Amino acid sequence: MSSPLKEQINPHHLPRHVAIIMDGNGRWAKKQGKIRTFGHQGGVTAVKDTVEAAAELGIEVLTMYAFSTENWSRPKLEIDALMHLLVETISKETPTLMKNQIRLDAIGDIDALPTKVARNLRKTIDATATNTRMTLVLALSYSSRWEITKAVKAIASEVKAGILEPEAITEDVVSKHLATAEWPDPELLIRTSGESRISNYLLWQIAYAELYFTPKLWPDFRKEDLYEALLDFQQRERRFGKTTEQVKSEHA
Ligand code: IPE
Ligand code: IPE
Ligand code: MG
Repeated sequence: MSSPLKEQINPHHLPRHVAIIMDGNGRWAKKQGKIRTFGHQGGVTAVKDTVEAAAELGIEVLTMYAFSTENWSRPKLEIDALMHLLVETISKETPTLMKNQIRLDAIGDIDALPTKVARNLRKTIDATATNTRMTLVLALSYSSRWEITKAVKAIASEVKAGILEPEAITEDVVSKHLATAEWPDPELLIRTSGESRISNYLLWQIAYAELYFTPKLWPDFRKEDLYEALLDFQQRERRFGKTTEQVKSEHA
């Protein structure tokens, strides 16, 4: 199906890495008089559509916030339902990931996940490891402060062991100790559901990302919504501290 929005996207000016905070599942369900879990099920459709759109466009990395460290404080029933949905979806979608040449990876405290979820996740990560079209990263039991604290510990250990000099700790060394070490920083961060906050997501990595907030609730998010976000991104002037004149002359 051709899309007028998609046709307006400049394929030479795409972000290499897009990060998404998938929010609003609970409110989407509530609006229909259903329980929150129904919203999470609805969210799966949005994930599938968005992953497909991103891969078709040629985005290299898509990082999706699926479960935060803070989400462990939700009612047990909701956590259990979410974990069950994860296991089910990961298994069910593995053949599609293979067919579309998509590599799955995860960031977060995977060991904190129920054994079955961790096992299924690792299985699919291994099975898709050599796929090269796009990397889909799920942030699971993830929070940015958890990740940064872990990196600081690892760096401190290296210094203590005499492998690393404190003077040699550069921004690049910090980046390389984060879970996202192998990918470029996201240039675009999308959050659905109308909330204008970051909720402990990729704090270091989004230092210069363009932020895009949409009122759409996550289960309603579709390919067209991703196209809209990308078109908005492409209209922005990314100055990185320079002046408009400098930026213009660099692109001339
Ligand atoms: C996002 O939707 C999914 C997760 C955080 C797991 P929510 O469950 O946060 O839905 P709202 O924000 O309460 O509507
Ligand atoms: C952020 O959404 C985490 C995920 C999307 C997985 P939340 O709904 O948990 O965030 P807050 O509570 O609104 O900050
Ligand atoms: Mg929420």
